[in-house]
Amino acid sequence: MRAWALNMDFARLWLGLLLPLVAALDFSYHHQEALEAFLKRVAQNYSSITHLHSIGKSVRGRNLWVLVVGRFPKEHRVGIPDFKYVANMHGDETVGRELLLHLIDYLVTNHGKDPEITNLINSTRIHIMPSMNPDGFEAVKNPDCFYSNGRENFNQYDLNRNFPDAFEYNNVSRQPETVAVMKWLKTETFVLSANLHGGALVASYPFDNGVPATGALLSRSVTPDDDVFQYLANIYASRNPNMKKGDQCENKLNFPNGVTNGYSWYPLHGGMQDYNYIWAQCFEITLELSCCKYPPEEELPSFWNYNKASLIEYMKQVHLGMKGQVFDIDGNPLPNVIVEVQDRKHICPYRTNKFGEYYLLLLPGSYTINITVPGHEPYLTKVVIPEKSQNFSALKKDFQLSFRGQLDSTQVSDPSCPLIPLYKNFPSHSAATKPSLFLFLMTLLNIFSK
Ligand SMILES: *[C@@H]1O[C@H](CO)[C@@H](O)[C@H](O)[C@H]1NC(C)=O
Ligand SMILES: *[C@@H]1O[C@H](CO)[C@@H](O)[C@H](O)[C@H]1NC(C)=O
Ligand SMILES: *[C@@H]1O[C@H](CO)[C@@H](O)[C@H](O)[C@H]1NC(C)=O
Ligand SMILES: *[C@@H]1O[C@H](CO)[C@@H](O)[C@H](O)[C@H]1NC(C)=O
Ligand SMILES: *[C@@H]1O[C@H](CO)[C@@H](O)[C@H](O)[C@H]1NC(C)=O
Ligand SMILES: [Zn+2]
Repeated sequence: MRAWALNMDFARLWLGLLLPLVAALDFSYHHQEALEAFLKRVAQNYSSITHLHSIGKSVRGRNLWVLVVGRFPKEHRVGIPDFKYVANMHGDETVGRELLLHLIDYLVTNHGKDPEITNLINSTRIHIMPSMNPDGFEAVKNPDCFYSNGRENFNQYDLNRNFPDAFEYNNVSRQPETVAVMKWLKTETFVLSANLHGGALVASYPFDNGVPATGALLSRSVTPDDDVFQYLANIYASRNPNMKKGDQCENKLNFPNGVTNGYSWYPLHGGMQDYNYIWAQCFEITLELSCCKYPPEEELPSFWNYNKASLIEYMKQVHLGMKGQVFDIDGNPLPNVIVEVQDRKHICPYRTNKFGEYYLLLLPGSYTINITVPGHEPYLTKVVIPEKSQNFSALKKDFQLSFRGQLDSTQVSDPSCPLIPLYKNFPSHSAATKPSLFLFLMTLLNIFSK
């Protein structure tokens, strides 16, 4: 009996080792053509759980591909949160780009086999963008561990300085890659995201910019969701054996447990993670995955081994907290309703989408939820999020309000955020609050990673 079972295990191991060889994606750098071919093959082979589309074009006209994996890959469904990974926005930071191709391969080939992956795909709509800056990637002539000219897009703009900024006026020419991402964020109900970089080894969370009101005088700049962000960054870093040590890159800062607040590391304006959190209702962190920006291909398998568990565990966090719909007395879903936790007011209030849905990423605990239909008194209610609530679903809580929908009188159209910069009225906002000598040196030496 025992021996037979062992034999079966060997057989399975054998098959398991053989099968990937048939269809496996190799560990090498995939340039645009090979990347497109791979994504198209996946979309064809796994058409029931994938959807491939381009969200726009780079300056040189290269497609910005996104592969969606999920039970309903083509469109958002009520109750299914949208998650995303974006890599290679700095064209010379290449590890994330290849990791995302391997992640795609891993997800589709394990769907229906591995229960964890099957549950994840069944409960989540996962958007994967291996390269936000394909022109930059192709522009790198001599792969290097440090800065090379492919960091910027073809027009020489750093895309992670190219978004609107809530704390200071960011007067830059908005690039096609940035515009495409901003448009994309408006069309989806993204809840959680990570942005993959290289040149350091750390999970960095918002804010990247700040003012005294966010704590900048204390050399940190934190959101009202700081507990959630620290937890999220730790989820990633703690499962990466190198990142969690915090000191594995030579000549770099030490990061306790491999996590840091973005501003504490070094401030920047126009970054993508702050934009996601403030304008797109999406919690995003920045993952620095390799000390060397463009390491040799031979090292790619070990990067995959060191990041695989983190990449998967991080995606599961999209099911933290609570979610649901807001209805009026007749059961009609109410869009554009502000649903927030008391004492966690966002700079731009988080609102329900066109299906009346909200998603709130929260750790277990007691919270007061404030539901406000513009023009009506706020409705306050207490909610307890239990420990271990998250089994591929956030706590589900729908709300029915006691009046008839005011859709005609409510602005249902794009509830865009008000002033830029939003914090212009805060006192003593000056460059002096930033570690400017350090920044000046970094600029001089070109040692930016995020
Ligand atoms: C898709 O299927 C073809 C034919 O079965 C196979 O050769 C190819 O490797 C598969 N590609 C992927 C990415 O799974
Ligand atoms: C997928 O999720 C739905 C709804 O949550 C559930 O009814 C179904 O059994 C799940 N399917 C799998 C394969 O887990
Ligand atoms: C923005 O930049 C453009 C071009 O560099 C310049 O002409 C314009 O005056 C700037 N606007 C502000 C408000 O700084
Ligand atoms: C509830 O939210 C609304 C809209 O953001 C806000 O105006 C109001 O002050 C909040 N009420 C409480 C008690 O927090
Ligand atoms: C989590 O959900 C899956 C089905 O989606 C179920 O099989 C499993 O027992 C659940 N686990 C817990 C701890 O509730
Ligand atoms: Zn970077």
